[in-house]
Amino acid sequence: MDKLLIRGGNKLSGAVRIGCAKNAYLPILAATILFKGKVTLLDCPDYDDVKNMIGILENLGANVSYSGSALTLDMSNLNSYSIPKELSCLTRSSIFSLGAILGRFRKAKVAYPGGCEIGSRPIDLHIKGLEALGVKILDRRGYLTCDGKNLEGSTVHLDFPSVGATENIMLAGVLSKGTTKIYNPAREPEIIDLQNFLNKAGAKITGAGTTTIVIEGVENLKDVEYKPMPDRIVAGTYLIAGLMCGGDIELKNVCPEHLQSLISKFKYNSCQISTKGDKIRVVSDKRLASLGKVETMPYPGFPTDLQAQIMALMSVAKGTTVIKENLFETRFKHVPELVKMGAKIITEGRTATVVGVDKLYGAEVMAPDLRGGAGLVLAGLVADGYTKVSNVRQIRRGYESIERDLALLGADVKRISE
Ligand code: UD1
Repeated sequence: MDKLLIRGGNKLSGAVRIGCAKNAYLPILAATILFKGKVTLLDCPDYDDVKNMIGILENLGANVSYSGSALTLDMSNLNSYSIPKELSCLTRSSIFSLGAILGRFRKAKVAYPGGCEIGSRPIDLHIKGLEALGVKILDRRGYLTCDGKNLEGSTVHLDFPSVGATENIMLAGVLSKGTTKIYNPAREPEIIDLQNFLNKAGAKITGAGTTTIVIEGVENLKDVEYKPMPDRIVAGTYLIAGLMCGGDIELKNVCPEHLQSLISKFKYNSCQISTKGDKIRVVSDKRLASLGKVETMPYPGFPTDLQAQIMALMSVAKGTTVIKENLFETRFKHVPELVKMGAKIITEGRTATVVGVDKLYGAEVMAPDLRGGAGLVLAGLVADGYTKVSNVRQIRRGYESIERDLALLGADVKRISE
């Protein structure tokens, strides 16, 4: 079993390049189902979730080839509209394929998705949205069987700005007759990236990033080459590492605007975060003051995907921070692991009270999920002695190689087999 072995205490220095965003790549991969020709995606990240999604596309009949880090998908011979349980359980993103499969085949059979265990992750908004576009959905024995022969543009109002539901409805609307309007869509940058990708191929979508998305249906999409946006969550994780460990680091190939909800929190703290073009520099040499309160929100609010990492930082900050998780009800599974390392955290429902301590201590901990695992790695970087993080496969779902990147910045992290 692979584990990460971390010896805490090193200051960080140097630069690291951030790759393409998993959460942009996955819906774009799902969108390729709408194409009858070829799609080339540059800078393909080596994340397990991305590999699993490519496996789903191959199972549908896609022909996949690589040239360096460029991935080309030939979608001309798709011959299946079904995603079996053994593939869909590997990644929650299998659910995004539903809208695209319906757009292409006007029918779909998709098993319920898997993914991170961070509470019940319902798909009612996906289903309601697709039904509003005329799709008939039968939910039986773990499969959604969908009849889309009446798929047509319509108006959808999302009760909550779900990222996945927004993407699914966009994908179902692209090749539908008429106009689809999504009110209260998610405004995450990854939604804008999906719009940009589809529009480059001839789709007619406007409004991504605002409170209404409008999709004018088109007949088909043309071959396209595209480079998805950089990963704001990986960048945010390393930015927090820089703040925790002290030192002077640079993150390259980032979009600083996407990280404003994180960066702005440290404006009056004892560190410097500066941005220039697609680079962020983090200089820190003192213990930071606590943030008082952090609440996760849909974009442009503070991302739930950085909640565990900011908690690791607040565990060693001066003072108390109250962290409220508004998106997922059981996204505190990293808390008992941080407590094993000496953190003082008390949770009640969706609120965690973090009392900063002078020191964390190395321990054997388990990554409970993807971002929780990243938070534990950060804690290990500042803990006294050695920390061993198990269940590394969770972290691999969204970080190509967290040990390579952090080691490049001077941290003592390596992968070991036990
Ligand atoms: C996406 C991201 C994930 C991130 C999350 C929130 C991808 C691949 N994953 O996940 O990393 O943590 O956004 O920023 O892009 N909900 C419903 N019904 C639905 C759909 C969602 O109640 O039909 C609820 C969920 O339970 C959750 C909230 O809405 O409480 C947010 O979920 P959503 O925005 O859909 O997240 P995902 O698309 O699953």
